[in-house]
Amino acid sequence: MTILSNGHQWKYSEFIDNKNYSFDKDKILKSISKDDIDDAYNIISKWEGYSPTPLLSLNKLSKELNLKNIFYKDENKRFDLKSFKALGGAYAVEKVTKGNKDIVVATATAGNHGRSVAWGARRLGLKCKIFISEFVSEARGQAMSDLGADVIKVKGNYEQSLIECIKQSTENNWQIVQDVAWKDYMVVPKYTMAGYSVMMREIIDQINNEKITHVILQAGVGGMAGAMVSGIARYLDNVPVTIVVEPDSAACVLESIKTGKIEKIDIKRESLMGGMSCGEVSLVPWEILKNSVKHCISLPDDDIAKTMRLLGNSTFSEHRIIAGENSAPGVIGLIASYEDQIIKQKLQLDENSNILIIGCEGDTDKEMYQKLINQ
Ligand SMILES: Cc1ncc(COP(=O)(O)O)c(C=O)c1O
Repeated sequence: MTILSNGHQWKYSEFIDNKNYSFDKDKILKSISKDDIDDAYNIISKWEGYSPTPLLSLNKLSKELNLKNIFYKDENKRFDLKSFKALGGAYAVEKVTKGNKDIVVATATAGNHGRSVAWGARRLGLKCKIFISEFVSEARGQAMSDLGADVIKVKGNYEQSLIECIKQSTENNWQIVQDVAWKDYMVVPKYTMAGYSVMMREIIDQINNEKITHVILQAGVGGMAGAMVSGIARYLDNVPVTIVVEPDSAACVLESIKTGKIEKIDIKRESLMGGMSCGEVSLVPWEILKNSVKHCISLPDDDIAKTMRLLGNSTFSEHRIIAGENSAPGVIGLIASYEDQIIKQKLQLDENSNILIIGCEGDTDKEMYQKLINQ
């Protein structure tokens, strides 16, 4: 198949430059320190069952786009949780409980973060309370029950589930392990991000001395993107072009980068990219991202199912890649940028480009995955 056969087939909604861009490694490493990053790798790499996830080459796509390499970090292979999220919540559980077996951990979640916390609690033999909104699917709730967590359904949306989590945790002296930061709650979200940065450490061991020139990072509340930028500051000698990609219905990083301050989005329509459908960038990542993201791009849902299918049927590479809804936007962001001559030139996408894309998750929701690839 010729991927670009009809030209301009891959849609983006908005592309912006960050007028406050200035990538300052020392400043970034003040938010998440070198020690935080190294600690996370030293601890997580000793967990039972740990092995680095593969860095695959989308060699058919890079040939078609005349780029040197497109590297795809395949988080479908992350422990048995099939998502980079496994590195964050579970690591934070270990850090906050410090070997104390009597602590009960609690979190509010839309799915994958809670799964990581539940899994981390089970690893350490701890009790775990997970608060989910009434809109979280039965399958996602069940997955966390299966990991031994007590799953509590709350009427209303995610915010309501978080309010209930904080209320019950305060009453019962449970330890909250949240991935989102707010004023006075920064330490635990930093642990989750330090955990995510393990991906970057693995990548530098996997790129065979190639120099990464561009990184495309999906963002929900910005934790993963911020963590990867910290990893870049910690591990890379060069500074690649950093591009954040978001659903156009929830482009909270893009809107905040535009004005230089945190902007809250009123989400009118939930994106297919569920994990990225977040209305407000979290405080810790914002401190990192506000100056170190060079460009932002937002996407409609239109090409998600197609991209998942093309990754799955080895159109883009030699591999059949199981990529969930939140893994597709990195690839779409790249192709849509390539098809637009102005953006392509601005990003200097050419035969010397080594692009890094994060395949954040596999089929974490099997039913949804099957439905989308069969569309
Ligand atoms: C499953 C999943 N959840 C959430 C996110 C967003 O992460 P964050 O909220 O840390 O920005 C992603 C990817 O960006 C994802 O793949």
